[in-house]
Amino acid sequence: MKRVFITGAAQGIGRETAKKFWEDGHHLVLIDLPTVEESELKEQFPERMDYIQADITSKDLRPLIQDEMKKGIDVLVNNAGITRDSTLLKMEESDWDLVVNINLKSVFILSQMAAGIMKESGGGSILNAASVVAHNGNFGQTNYVATKAGVIGMTKTMAKELGRYNIRVNAIAPGFIATPMVNKMPEKVISMMEDKTPLGRMGKPEDIANAYSFLASDEASFITGTCINVDGGIVI
Ligand SMILES: NC(=O)c1ccc[n+]([C@@H]2O[C@H](COP(=O)([O-])OP(=O)(O)OC[C@H]3O[C@@H](n4cnc5c(N)ncnc54)[C@H](O)[C@@H]3O)[C@@H](O)[C@H]2O)c1
Repeated sequence: MKRVFITGAAQGIGRETAKKFWEDGHHLVLIDLPTVEESELKEQFPERMDYIQADITSKDLRPLIQDEMKKGIDVLVNNAGITRDSTLLKMEESDWDLVVNINLKSVFILSQMAAGIMKESGGGSILNAASVVAHNGNFGQTNYVATKAGVIGMTKTMAKELGRYNIRVNAIAPGFIATPMVNKMPEKVISMMEDKTPLGRMGKPEDIANAYSFLASDEASFITGTCINVDGGIVI
């Protein structure tokens, strides 16, 4: 049984990833803003689950997360992420800062924390949420794309540095996945994206959860520093 930490686990891809790891028999430590009641999570995960209500950008809450990691951490899924879209000429500095803090800086902070503990315990697996938009850019997402491209670079660098400690670091680049983040988009844009996808559909959160589960498993024990597109072929 592995101890699996997942940020942004209250909904969407994070929640589905929690479900997958839980069904595989692992112990979950779920981290999210107070957007969901612990009782709701307890209904779905009645055992082998701890919930930390925390904003991952808050310095005050870091000791709480670190104390939980000190009890053991085998897998960290840096899943939490947000968008604050607007074109470059209209983008507020505050929206740049917010997106960079959550999507990029928190990956650095939590990975550094986890890696220090994994190094002492003999290894582990760090999984990061990138996005296919990191490869080709995306209109209206200067901040978001910068963070996701940064996550891919960070993943490769951490893999090079941490391999000697048996810590593997990989990323997933989801395409368009049906979650609250994407459901906010206009219907027209969603159907245009489906048309552009060779597999002809939006992804499901399970598609991403399955990929995280594989990358964290022993079957992926020789895979590190990679970013796997799980996108129905949209960036071919
Ligand atoms: N849905 C997609 O199509 C898609 C595509 C590419 C990449 N991604 C990435 O996958 C990840 C998950 O996406 P999703 O669609 O499930 O998003 P979502 O908006 O449905 O869920 C994100 C979760 O992160 C949490 N969160 C946000 N800020 C936080 C903070 N400061 N501290 C703690 N938790 C915080 C939210 O409360 C929420 O539960 C994100 O990193 C996203 O960028 C998603």
